[in-house]
Amino acid sequence: CGIVGYVGSQSALDVVMAGLKRLEYRGYDSAGVAVLADGGLAAAKKAGKLVNLEKELVDRPLPAGSTGIGHTRWATHGGPTDANAHPHLDNAGRVCVVHNGIIENFAVLRAELEERGHELASETDTEVVAHLIAEEFSSCADLAEAMRLVCRRLEGAFTLVAVHADEPDVVVGARRNSPLVVGVGEGEAFLASDVAAFIAHTRSAIELGQDQVVELRRDGVTVTGFDGRPAEVRSYHVDWDASAAEKGGYDYFMLKEIAEQPKAVADTLLGRIDAAGSLTLDEVRISDAELREVDKVVIVACGTAFHAGLIAKYAIEHWTRIPCEVELASEFRYRDPILGARSLVIAISQSGETMDTLMALRHARQQGSKVLAICNTNGSTIPRESDAVLYTHAGPEVAVASTKAFLTQLVACYLVALYLGQVRGTKWGDEITAVIRDLSHISGAVERVLETMEPVRALARTLAHKNTVLFLGRHVGYPVALEGALKLKELAYMHAEGFAAGELKHGPIALIEEDLPVVVVVPSPRGRSVLHDKIVSNIQEIRARGARTIVIAEEGDEAVVPYADHLIRIPVTPTLLQPLVATVPLQVFACELATARGNEVDQPRNLAKSVTVE
Ligand code: G6P
Repeated sequence: CGIVGYVGSQSALDVVMAGLKRLEYRGYDSAGVAVLADGGLAAAKKAGKLVNLEKELVDRPLPAGSTGIGHTRWATHGGPTDANAHPHLDNAGRVCVVHNGIIENFAVLRAELEERGHELASETDTEVVAHLIAEEFSSCADLAEAMRLVCRRLEGAFTLVAVHADEPDVVVGARRNSPLVVGVGEGEAFLASDVAAFIAHTRSAIELGQDQVVELRRDGVTVTGFDGRPAEVRSYHVDWDASAAEKGGYDYFMLKEIAEQPKAVADTLLGRIDAAGSLTLDEVRISDAELREVDKVVIVACGTAFHAGLIAKYAIEHWTRIPCEVELASEFRYRDPILGARSLVIAISQSGETMDTLMALRHARQQGSKVLAICNTNGSTIPRESDAVLYTHAGPEVAVASTKAFLTQLVACYLVALYLGQVRGTKWGDEITAVIRDLSHISGAVERVLETMEPVRALARTLAHKNTVLFLGRHVGYPVALEGALKLKELAYMHAEGFAAGELKHGPIALIEEDLPVVVVVPSPRGRSVLHDKIVSNIQEIRARGARTIVIAEEGDEAVVPYADHLIRIPVTPTLLQPLVATVPLQVFACELATARGNEVDQPRNLAKSVTVE
């Protein structure tokens, strides 16, 4: 969910609504706002996207006020209805709360409230908090203190922001696990899940730590622990430009972000390869001596980042000979994984806030393992809680379906793998030197792919009526196939599956029927040519059974031509780096299919970009 709070001299409604627009990527099941005005509290909320709330505010305007809060929701407790939308009020309509996360003991708290005569209007855990704050406030008359008292009784992960009509110039926020940042302006202050919400007003930000409460007033902010003790305040300057979060002439953020990939890749490499062709990863604060001791690498991540991890495994094991496991972060800690001081855990996350990944890394650190984060968001929770971080420099990614962040995650994974190889000195020394050289030119190859995407778009449009598309790959092409299928599910809402091409004959081949589109990612015919030849046979097998073959193959690979109903060419790249170019047509393909099917490209149904619940 996305949260915004404001106190100052501007119209709170304008500031909060503009902030919510920037945070809509965090959820768009419903939205709501509240402002303090004329000694009271006025709220509006609507199921569906922010535009529904905008219409509601035109039909039924709120009174003007300069203190307000807002919320854009990704539903957990209770469906995406008007009643379940935030903010939530107490019975007297004096306290108003917005919330991100899950309050695990809410049923017990709710039963207690009902016993004491409270009437709850929604099915949400948030409403319980509004009622509890109202109770505490009635005895202490201090919103920050009421918030602290309530937070001590809550279990789970949550971010809360509240206002009270009796303290009209105050906004109070509380944070446990889910993100919350403070923006400090001149005579005004902001609270939000992400700096994007207030970057147009101030670049001066404060990170809230775990279990902290912040009180915002026009003339300053006060941060304490849940126990009331003053907390150390960590300020920082937000250095990215507000325009980076604008569409810049593209119809969708996703199109813009696909087009930005060559730059994102180049930026992620910048300063990390020296003139002599060696890697320098100074920011990785794990010593070379410790890296030499590593006896196992474990990668944890979710969604698209997990696919980057699957590709990293091939690179790490090949270049370093260190065994590498890749695990979905949501599964990791529940199976009692074997970890120790010599295990290196790599947590990959674009947002740095994914709760599943955060919990996995905490578990790893508790077991004594070192954690290296690969992350795109400066100052977010995952890098802050890791031993070291290698930032990807994709810039802000707004579209829910990840594109440029994925490519930069791959680059970061290759850098880590090559660096481990470099410090440990493997027998692949020459290959490592050659790959570092190839990597430094790879953004040009990504650029070339983007220049040849028109036929892919045209093909996608002809397939808009299909129900199913399959994706096949071998070696690093297998995770690419998984990513191609995920993109299609997310964006086109089509049934899409990725398979290891060799596994096809063991079951999935039964799915092949007349004219079923099957996308095949073909490895380079150079290098491990046996893989190439095997996949050419796989293409023949499916074509013989009626499949419509869409073949992604290297320039100059003539062996596939007779069996390809559609051929998509990608530049020649070293085998392990091929995902950087092979993924791009699949992103374009899914994006175009989504448009052709009339779907919302940037905000696919049911999804959120950053999922801060487990
Ligand atoms: C959500 C998004 C996915 C993303 C995943 C991991 O589910 O919808 O696109 O891949 O989270 O996000 P992260 O920020 O940790 O990379």
